[in-house]
Amino acid sequence: MKIKNLSINGKTFLAPLAGITNLPFRLLVKEYGCAVVCSEMISAKGIFYNSEKTLDLLSSKKKEQPLSIQLFGSDPDSMAKGAKFIQDLKVANIIDINFGCSVKKVVKQGAGVALMKEPELTKTILTAVRKAINLPLTIKLRSGWDHSGQQAFKIAQIAQDSGVDAIILHPRTANQGFKGKANWDLITKLKQQLSIPVIGNGDINTVEDAQKMITHTKCDAVMVGRAAMKNPFILSQIDDFLATGSYKTSSNYEIFRAMERLTRMYVVYFEEKPACKMLRGRLSWFVKGMPGCSAFRKNLSCINSKNHILTLIKEFETGLV
Ligand SMILES: Cc1cc2nc3c(=O)[nH]c(=O)nc-3n(C[C@H](O)[C@H](O)[C@H](O)COP(=O)(O)O)c2cc1C
Repeated sequence: MKIKNLSINGKTFLAPLAGITNLPFRLLVKEYGCAVVCSEMISAKGIFYNSEKTLDLLSSKKKEQPLSIQLFGSDPDSMAKGAKFIQDLKVANIIDINFGCSVKKVVKQGAGVALMKEPELTKTILTAVRKAINLPLTIKLRSGWDHSGQQAFKIAQIAQDSGVDAIILHPRTANQGFKGKANWDLITKLKQQLSIPVIGNGDINTVEDAQKMITHTKCDAVMVGRAAMKNPFILSQIDDFLATGSYKTSSNYEIFRAMERLTRMYVVYFEEKPACKMLRGRLSWFVKGMPGCSAFRKNLSCINSKNHILTLIKEFETGLV
C-alpha cells in the first residue's frame, strides 16, 4: 500500500501505546518484522515549550523506519509548529494526529477524542498542519461520542478534504475506553466512504483476527496494540499469514530471547534503575499463561539490575523445560 508517496511493505502497523511504544519496544517489534511502527503520543505543546521529557520521546533510530510519530494537542498553531519540528528532525516518515485518546487529562485540554466534537477546529488544525509539512499525514479516530459512528465519518471526510493521506479507525466510543467490542462495521462503512487508505484497529488478538478484519471491512491495513504487548512477533506473523496463508508460531525459546533483548535495550535507553522499574510490568506480559508465571511476576517486583533480570529469565526458562 501507499500513504501519499510512501510505499509500505506489508499491512501491519504497531499501534501508538503511551508508555509502551518507546524506542526499545519499537525496535524489538521491527526486528521481528512489522510494516510501520508508531511512537507513543507526543504533546505538541511539549515540543512548543521545549520540554525535555517530550523531546526525549522523539528519540529514534534509522533502522526502525518507516516510523509514524503521533502528535496530540488542540491548538492549531502549536500543532503545525510541532509537526514541522518533527519533519525537520528527519526521523519520521508519517505524522499522525491523535483524535482518539479519552484520558481525562487529554480530553480536558480539548485534545484527543475531544476534537471529534469539533469539526471546525479539526478543519483548522488539519489545514494548518497540512500547510506546515509535506510528510504523509494520518489521523487516528475513535467512533466518536456515540455508537453511530457519524462523528468518525464526518471528521474523516473533513480530514480527507484537508489533505490527510490515511485514516486509522478504532471503532469504540470515547466513553467505552477499551470495554465492549470494537464495531468493525464502522470500518467497513468508512472504507466505502473514503478514497484514501483506511487502517482498521481494535480487538485484533490473534493472527487470524487480522485476516477476519480485512475480509470483513476491506480495510487497507491493520493496526495492532495490546496483542503486540504480549506477543511482539504478531505483526510479522500477520504479514506472513496475509501473504502466504501460513505463519510460524513463536516458541518459548524465542519469547525468552525477546525478553532478554528488550531488557538489554531498555537498560541502554533508560539506564538501569528506571529500566528495571518499567520492565516489571512489561516482562510479565510476555509469559502470561505459562506455568509458574505468577511466581515469575512476583519475582519481577523486586528486580534491581540487568543481571538480576537476566538470571530470573534464565531460571524461569530452565524451570519450564
Ligand atoms: C496502554 C495503552 C496506551 C495507549 N496509548 C495510545 C496513544 O498514545 N495514542 C493512541 O492513539 N492510542 C493509544 N492507545 C490505543 C491503541 O493505540 C489502540 O487504538 C487500542 O488499544 C485498540 O487496539 P488493540 O485492540 O489492538 O489494542 C493506547 C492503548 C493502550 C492499551
